[in-house]
Formats: sequence, structure tokens, C-alpha cells
Amino acid sequence: MTDIYEQIIDRLVAEGGVVMLVGAPDTGKSTLAKLIMTAGLEKGLAVSYVDADIAQTTVGPPTCIGLRRLSTVADLDDLASSDDLRFVGSIDPERLRLQQVIGTASLVEAARNDSALIVIDTTGSVSGVVGQTLKYHKVELCRPDSVVALQRGAEMEPIVGLLRRFFSVQVDTVPVHPGVVASSPGERASARAEQFANALSGEQQKWRVKPTVFAPTLPTGLDLARLDGMLVGVHDRGGRCLGLGVLEYDADALRVVTAVGEGMAGLRLGSLRLDQVTHQTSGVNLREVMFGLE
Ligand SMILES: Nc1ncnc2c1ncn2[C@@H]1O[C@H](COP(=O)(O)OP(=O)(O)OP(=O)(O)O)[C@@H](O)[C@H]1O
Ligand SMILES: [Mg+2]
Repeated sequence: MTDIYEQIIDRLVAEGGVVMLVGAPDTGKSTLAKLIMTAGLEKGLAVSYVDADIAQTTVGPPTCIGLRRLSTVADLDDLASSDDLRFVGSIDPERLRLQQVIGTASLVEAARNDSALIVIDTTGSVSGVVGQTLKYHKVELCRPDSVVALQRGAEMEPIVGLLRRFFSVQVDTVPVHPGVVASSPGERASARAEQFANALSGEQQKWRVKPTVFAPTLPTGLDLARLDGMLVGVHDRGGRCLGLGVLEYDADALRVVTAVGEGMAGLRLGSLRLDQVTHQTSGVNLREVMFGLE
């Protein structure tokens, strides 16, 4: 078992390029990502980690795809801080697939020129129409040199067959390591709440916002109270997400609470409300929020 992991890591590091890891939840994707990156860094490669898992996040906050550039093995000790972010706006891998695919691909492109090895960690959505479509388009746009599928039994065979049929990418399967420990939904939710709390901590400020700063734009005459509690991606003018914010509607004014100070140009609406006390989230349909069909 260990040999299979060692062999594949050795090959991936020798070949370099872009590696995408796929697998169901709790299959060891993030752990394998770190093992590959450790081996790459030990060899002296410039390594980039694109963490496209918007739910069980390693780099940056949940709801975002994060890029981290690494130059030493010690950099792996703290992967939470990001060098670049793309806001998706959901923690559900089955939703907002356009944002997930574009965000992942654009961070891979951002890393391509200055990295010898790029490792893409992905969500656990790998089956059915939604999971297969998501992975298909991530491979289409990220153009990995290698895909590694971590599988229990034969669960990844459909998606592996699909990727081999439609793309010339090298696809390998490895069995899930027996040491992998599954996490409960409660553990996942509390880890996420802590990550949201961290993302929104620091020197938070409240900025009054004009209704014209949003993407998508607000319909004329929208009751702004409907946006209370909505999570937003705080964006600069260069297409980058600088961090997260939460909207607050109070006394006839709409404000954004955020630790992002400089460079805020616009706010992207996601499909989540975030409770600022518990940091628990609830999914919303943005169309319903905007057009009052709730
Ligand atoms: N090769 C391994 N040897 C021992 N333990 C492992 C190994 N791979 C993973 N684990 C353990 O199993 C757990 C889940 O692994 P990991 O977080 O890498 O999986 P994942 O597929 O990224 O999960 P998620 O769906 O939450 O993103 C972790 O506690 C990790 O330490
Ligand atoms: Mg993971």
C-alpha cells in the first residue's frame, strides 16, 4: 500500500506540472496533496497548492478557492493563509459549479508561470451528473498533466473512465489508505465555523455600502433588508477576492462587516447567510433573495 503511494509521489514529482487529486469525502486527498508537495519541496521545486475544496478548506476560508505558493517544507505547517483567492459563495460542492470551475482554473493559470509543480485539491463531489460534470469541466479548463483518483472499492471507475475517454490526461487510481479517519458532519461544521470566525476576525470594520457595488447587480427597488446576513466576497478591481464580509441591514442602512481594509472595489453575493455570532451558515437561493419568490 505504502509502495503505491511512494511510487506515485515519486513519479508526480519527477514529471512536475499540474496534478489534480479527486476522491469522495474522507479519502485522503488533502493528506496526499501535502505528501506530494513535501516531496516536491524537498527536491527544490517551486510548488503551488490550489485548494478548490470550498467546504473542507485548507487554504483561505470556506466558500473560496485558495492559492498558496510554497518554497520550503516549513511553509506546509501553516496553509491557512492564501496568496490569492477566488470567491465561490457556497459550501455546497453541488452548487455554483460555474464559479468553482472558473475560480479553480484561474488560480491554476495564475500559478502556472512560476511553479514547477501545482497540486489541485478538490471537493468530494465525484459521482452522479453533478459531480461528474464538475470534474469534467475542472479537467477541461485546468488541463492537468495527471489526475490521481483515491478510491474505495471501485467507486471512482465511472469518473476515471470518463476522464480517460474525453481527455488525454494520465489518470491513476490509488486505494484509500487504511489509516484514513472519517470526520462526522458535526466535526466538519465546527471546523468550518472556526474557519469563518478566523476569516472575519482581526480589525473588522463596518463600511456603508451603496446598492451599486454588487455583482450580480441588485434589481431596482430591492428591499435592502433582504440582504441582511448575506456572505459576500470583497473584491478589488483586478478580479481578485481580498476576503469575506457579511452584510448588515440596520436603521435603513446597508453595511458590510469585513476585516478587508484597503482596495475594496465591489462585493460579490454568494448563496449563503452567515450568523456572525455562531458562524453557522444557511444556504439561500440568490434569485429568491433578489426577486422575492421566497
Ligand atoms: N495516508 C494516510 N495515512 C494515515 N492517515 C491518513 C492518510 N491519509 C489521510 N489520513 C487521515 O485521514 C483523515 C482524512 O484525510 P484527508 O483530510 O486527507 O482526506 P480528504 O479526502 O481531504 O477529506 P475531505 O473530504 O474532508 O477533504 C485525516 O485525519 C488524515 O490525517
Ligand atoms: Mg480535504
